[in-house]
Amino acid sequence: MIALIIFIILTANHFSVTGVSTLKSGDQLNLTYHLISPGSNFTLGFFTIPATNNTYLGIWYTNDEQFKKVWVANPSTPIISSSAIVMIDQNTGKLIIATGESTHLNVSDNQSGDTFNLTATLQDNGNFQLINESDDQILWQSFDHPINVLLPGMKLGSNLKTGRNWILTSWLSDEIPDSGAFTLSWEPNGEDDQRSTILD
Ligand SMILES: *[C@@H]1O[C@H](CO)[C@@H](O)[C@H](O)[C@H]1NC(C)=O
Ligand SMILES: *[C@@H]1O[C@H](CO)[C@@H](O)[C@H](O)[C@H]1NC(C)=O
Ligand SMILES: *[C@@H]1O[C@H](CO)[C@@H](O)[C@H](O)[C@H]1NC(C)=O
Ligand SMILES: *[C@@H]1O[C@H](CO)[C@@H](O)[C@H](O)[C@H]1NC(C)=O
Ligand SMILES: *[C@@H]1O[C@H](CO)[C@@H](O)[C@H](O)[C@H]1NC(C)=O
Ligand SMILES: *[C@@H]1O[C@H](CO)[C@@H](O)[C@H](O)[C@H]1NC(C)=O
Ligand SMILES: *[C@@H]1O[C@H](CO)[C@@H](O)[C@H](O)[C@H]1NC(C)=O
Repeated sequence: MIALIIFIILTANHFSVTGVSTLKSGDQLNLTYHLISPGSNFTLGFFTIPATNNTYLGIWYTNDEQFKKVWVANPSTPIISSSAIVMIDQNTGKLIIATGESTHLNVSDNQSGDTFNLTATLQDNGNFQLINESDDQILWQSFDHPINVLLPGMKLGSNLKTGRNWILTSWLSDEIPDSGAFTLSWEPNGEDDQRSTILD
């Protein structure tokens, strides 16, 4: 009995210490397993908010006792099902969240190119990146889709050529990560004058 308990403690420790930081094409991360960045700074996994029983995929500081989320993949599309996985779809090269047989959310877009050598890695700065291992290209990254937390290395602003914006958006409430009333963004105001504004 004691041996069994020690075995369980050892294997549980073993998992969190040597935690995996990368999903390969075909790997699935389910509700009970986490990715841990190489230096253990950040953890990625599913979490459930007790007040609503809604489940989300998120990133938090591994050592934060309050597990405050620095990123949420599906703020407006919570998972209600008791099973969910995140994986790289081998056909489309998309990072997806699936429940049962069906895709719950396409986290990233279709990739145009061979999709068999893609990986998704949680970096030590908290960035979750879909990478083409064949040419080291970053195909998608969570830092381009901020929620309400700006981490070092993330940028806010807009790309005037593509019209793309990087903005922070508050949670609706402590229990609901869906978009709340406040956003923080750069508002281009003439060529040289950029300032940060709080809208709404
Ligand atoms: C979650 O994934 C792990 C590793 O693949 C597996 O051992 C475990 O049985 C899975 N748990 C559930 C509930 O599917
Ligand atoms: C969440 O699920 C648990 C277990 O199924 C249940 O006891 C609880 O009432 C649920 N809470 C809410 C807010 O639905
Ligand atoms: C994405 O892939 C699916 C099938 O894998 C295809 O039906 C769809 O047209 C593709 N969309 C784009 C935008 O390429
Ligand atoms: C995900 O993308 C596929 C195409 O690759 C599309 O057929 C499907 O409807 C999308 N699913 C969701 C939930 O958006
Ligand atoms: C990955 O890189 C290889 C080599 O450059 C390329 O052939 C392939 O199409 C790329 N795949 C994607 C999804 O970008
Ligand atoms: C990871 O955490 C360590 C210790 O807190 C810190 O020194 C380091 O800068 C962090 N790494 C990154 C990439 O943020
Ligand atoms: C997949 O990526 C690895 C690591 O970069 C590389 O060594 C290998 O040649 C790639 N495979 C293909 C078929 O591109």
